[in-house]
Amino acid sequence: GGGLHARAAAKGLAFGAALATRHMGEPDLMAAYRADCGLLVAEYEMKWSQLEPEAGQRRFRLADQLVSFARRNRMALRGHTLLWHESEPRWLSSLDARGTAAAMASHVDATALRWRGAIGTWDVVNEAVAPEHGRPDFLRRTWLLNRLGPDYLPQAFHIARAADPDARLAYNDFGIEHANLWSRRRRLGVLNLLQALRRAGAPVQVLGVQGHLQAGQPFEASEWRAFLAEVAALGLTIEITELDVNCAALPAAAARRDALAADLVRRFLDATLAEPAVRSVITWGLSDRHSWIQQGLLAEHRRSDNARPRPLPYDEAMRRKPMWAAIASAF
Ligand code: XIL
Repeated sequence: GGGLHARAAAKGLAFGAALATRHMGEPDLMAAYRADCGLLVAEYEMKWSQLEPEAGQRRFRLADQLVSFARRNRMALRGHTLLWHESEPRWLSSLDARGTAAAMASHVDATALRWRGAIGTWDVVNEAVAPEHGRPDFLRRTWLLNRLGPDYLPQAFHIARAADPDARLAYNDFGIEHANLWSRRRRLGVLNLLQALRRAGAPVQVLGVQGHLQAGQPFEASEWRAFLAEVAALGLTIEITELDVNCAALPAAAARRDALAADLVRRFLDATLAEPAVRSVITWGLSDRHSWIQQGLLAEHRRSDNARPRPLPYDEAMRRKPMWAAIASAF
């Protein structure tokens, strides 16, 4: 019995979900967070563009609401994310290399310092790998990379470490979970980056696996476990940080899609939790009522009106879906 976190904790693991402050007024939703979550992560409130919308003017108020909700409910916190190409503030583009380096350093320092001691794991860098960008080092051509070169990556880890000595520091990425060419190339890129960070002496301790699964794409347990074992052999622990299922490729009937999505989640978690370096599982939201997939970020859902996304453990009316049971029984 019990919620998802209670089941996870019985196995020495933790379960949690992402939450946005704009949904905190929904009592049925919040009841589910309290019942299921031992971990909480801000869906967007801790991203750079939100924390520093104008240069030098920091706004911590919304993120603090999540921090105090977690504290009141005895939930641990993940920090997401110090650096991410999609959340760089717009004003950054007017700075030269020196200004960019200074802004990056002061953002990482001020943010890690603000919640020093409160964050269990910080995502220091999110989604820096993009093999399709054609660089020999597999890195994504981001604003920071173009302005500063690859050294900013280990530097960010050093700055975060100095500002919050107790947080575990993570590199977080997506698109590595499946048994297809795309995921295989991205896994090589991620291993390449983790090794480069290590060689540069960066204090990276955790790989965050986003776990945005794609129903319809192949998943192979043995291949996935071999990758996790390679990560563990580097001395890193592993956290599943944004689990959900994009079911746009599946048949339209909701019950059928829910069953297939739950089956994929179960196979993914069984393989993942067999690796002892894995510590926690977080879903990117709890209810189909609110998901980034609905926000129109994924074009395939916009194209097919019969494939309304059902990516999460609860449906829009807060009924537990087969995915909830799949997660519960995987722990
Ligand atoms: C998304 C949030 O869900 C949205 O609300 C926001 O507008 C954009 O970011 N990978 C990540 C997350 O690492 O930060 C993203 O979250 C989803 C994909």
